[in-house]
Amino acid sequence: MKRIGVLVSGGGSNLQALIDSIRNGELSAEIAVVISNKEGVYALERAKQYDIPSRVISHKDYATVADFTAAIVSCLKEFDVDLVCLAGFLRILDRVLIDAYPNRVLNIHPALLPAFGGKGMYGHHVHEAVIASGAKYSGATVHLVTPETDVGPIVCQGIVEVADEDTPETLAAKVLQVEHRIYPQAVRLILEGGYRIDGLRVRRA
Ligand code: GRF
Repeated sequence: MKRIGVLVSGGGSNLQALIDSIRNGELSAEIAVVISNKEGVYALERAKQYDIPSRVISHKDYATVADFTAAIVSCLKEFDVDLVCLAGFLRILDRVLIDAYPNRVLNIHPALLPAFGGKGMYGHHVHEAVIASGAKYSGATVHLVTPETDVGPIVCQGIVEVADEDTPETLAAKVLQVEHRIYPQAVRLILEGGYRIDGLRVRRA
C-alpha cells in the first residue's frame, strides 16, 4: 500500500476528500501522517477522527526555511511516505523537499494555472484576482511541485463558470468542490504511475 504524507495549515477539506476517497475504495493508499505548521487547526481534528498520526511542525521554531523544511522531510521519512500532498499548506518550502521526493510532491491551487498563480496568490487573493480580471471560467489545478511557485507540471484540472453575481467567497466555494474531486484523481494517477512527464505536460503513458 502506498503511503501519503499530507501537509496542511487549516480546515483540511482537501485532506478529508483524500480520506473519503480512500475509504470508498476510489484511491488505494494510506495516509501515513498529517503534518500541520499550526496547532489547533481543524485538519488535525480530522486526522484524529480517523486515527491518522499527526505532527505539528511550526515554522516559528526554525531559523530558516531550509531548517523548517528539513524537519518536515525527516518526519516524512520517519513515516516512510511515498508521496507528499500539500493540501492548503500555506508556507513556502525549501527545495530540500523536492530533492528528497523528486516528482513526488503534489500541490493543489484554487485557479487554472498558469494563470493566477505565483507569489501572493493564495486564498481569497486568487478569487479576487480572477473576478477582477473578468475571466468567465476558473477552477482548480493539481500540479507537481518544482522549485518555482505554482509552475510545475499539471496533473489534473477542473473548471467552474464565474457567474456575474459571484463574489470571492461564492467562487471559492465552487472551486473547492472541484478541488475535492480532482485531488484524489491526481493522487491516483501519480501513485498508479500511468503517466510520463514531458516538459510541463503530464501525459498518460
Ligand atoms: C484550498 O482552496 C486550496 O486550494 C488552498 O487552500 C485551500 C485549503 O482548503 N491552497 P482546505 O484546508 O483543504 O479545506
